[in-house]
Amino acid sequence: MAVAQANPLRAGLRVERTPEPCVVVIFGATGDLTRRKLVPALYSLAHERQLPPNFALVGVARRDWSDDEFRREMRAGVERFGRNMHPAIWESFERHTYYCQSSFDDPDGYARLKERLASIDRERGTGGNRVFYLATGPENFLEITRNLSEGGLINRADTGPWTRVVIEKPFGHDLVSAQRLNRSLLSHMLRERQVFRIDHYLGKETVQNILALRFANVIFEPVWNGTYVEHVQITVAESVGVEGRAGYYEGAGAIRDMVQNHMMQLLALVAMEPPTHFDADAVRDEKIKVLRSVEFPGRSVGEWTARGQYGPGTIAGASVPAYRQETGVAPDSGTETYVSLKLLLNNWRWAGTPFYLRHGKRLPKRITEVAIAFKKVPHMLFRDGAASNLEQNVLALRIQPDEGISIRFGAKVPGANVRLRSVNMDFLYGVAFGADPADAYERLLLDAMLGDQTLFIRRDEVEQAWSIVSHVMDGWGKLLPISSPNYASGTWGPEESDDLIRRDGRAWRRL
Ligand code: BG6
Repeated sequence: MAVAQANPLRAGLRVERTPEPCVVVIFGATGDLTRRKLVPALYSLAHERQLPPNFALVGVARRDWSDDEFRREMRAGVERFGRNMHPAIWESFERHTYYCQSSFDDPDGYARLKERLASIDRERGTGGNRVFYLATGPENFLEITRNLSEGGLINRADTGPWTRVVIEKPFGHDLVSAQRLNRSLLSHMLRERQVFRIDHYLGKETVQNILALRFANVIFEPVWNGTYVEHVQITVAESVGVEGRAGYYEGAGAIRDMVQNHMMQLLALVAMEPPTHFDADAVRDEKIKVLRSVEFPGRSVGEWTARGQYGPGTIAGASVPAYRQETGVAPDSGTETYVSLKLLLNNWRWAGTPFYLRHGKRLPKRITEVAIAFKKVPHMLFRDGAASNLEQNVLALRIQPDEGISIRFGAKVPGANVRLRSVNMDFLYGVAFGADPADAYERLLLDAMLGDQTLFIRRDEVEQAWSIVSHVMDGWGKLLPISSPNYASGTWGPEESDDLIRRDGRAWRRL
């Protein structure tokens, strides 16, 4: 008999799990991600007593900082971006926080790091276990791993202290480069079980709750298929622009930045079959099947995708510039800041049910939502206009903000006549659980320390997601590039995206 592993989703509780003693080493320690997300998340875990008692943090970067400067900067980061700064807890946390200056290509720097880690092991009892977190630009991923490997800082063996490497996005910039990176990392430096490809969407409570909703309840799964579901819409709308990241975004665009990773993961979780266990391989085996079943609805990508770039406009009462006016963006840039696409899944459960995905920057508001739109009843009992205002049933999973779930269904309007109207039934996380969800990085860092890869992307998944996105990008390469902004900031994207879904007799949800 298969023995179920204890896990928070199945138990409906947060199961306390404490990692083994270890050192977390962050490469790119002076960067934005470290200050905004990684150190606040680690500190929060300390606050929640989820770090092992023997723990240390080492930052590695080129800048010439001392341990104290690093601590000061990180403290400022936690005060600004963290959720629970408590001076006494911070002081105890920072006593085991160190800084090691090195460029990423300098073998001497890795030798110094090795010595430093050995002395931390002696002082702190961290036992030689390491999580190396690569929070650098993608151009450094391979170089750092190679230097760690050549410097004797990686143990590939199944015995002895463990080494894990967390790799930030973007993992490659197309299928070929992702395959090449995987091959190089896995040839002789690392094993797949040591590679933690991060997608921070999987650390979001509401994203994990897609699995809880589907597989811990009996009432949703029976209708979670093409027999009952008419179509699915996945929206990731942002009101922000490129936020000073033009250097990266110009070469990426919306499809690489959000669709290849976060949106493909949402699609996989929504569409996957129930795994037999809640463990890394069982869950990822089901997700990869979804990605493999993706079918493109037409020969020309122009028929089932839309691209856009924001022009100037107004968001929340403030004027904002066009994408092409942002610092670092070429004045004639053809980079897309909006993308929408229709996909089909060629499998038993979903054959014929379209999945519409849209993402854009500088849309009117920040909202991520998965909406399952259901078919009409087979026979409408209420006639003569009684049900003419009735919309289709929709189950909406609000990933962020206002995290929650709502169901839209028909109800009788009170009164002597029979008249029906659509109403909402709402569940709000904040109200039900009385707390805001933890930051995604807390969960993911903890899982990396625990060696749990369930919420990390496996090699085949990242490559399959790139193969889908590369197909779209190749198709776009044969079309005319975006020649001018085609949606104003503060609007819901270009006309052609509305046309894309309208051609199927449907409309994007008004959010
Ligand atoms: C990142 C993208 O991966 O996700 C950003 O690079 C985007 O462009 C961000 O803004 C969105 O994350 P979240 O958690 O705010 O939805």
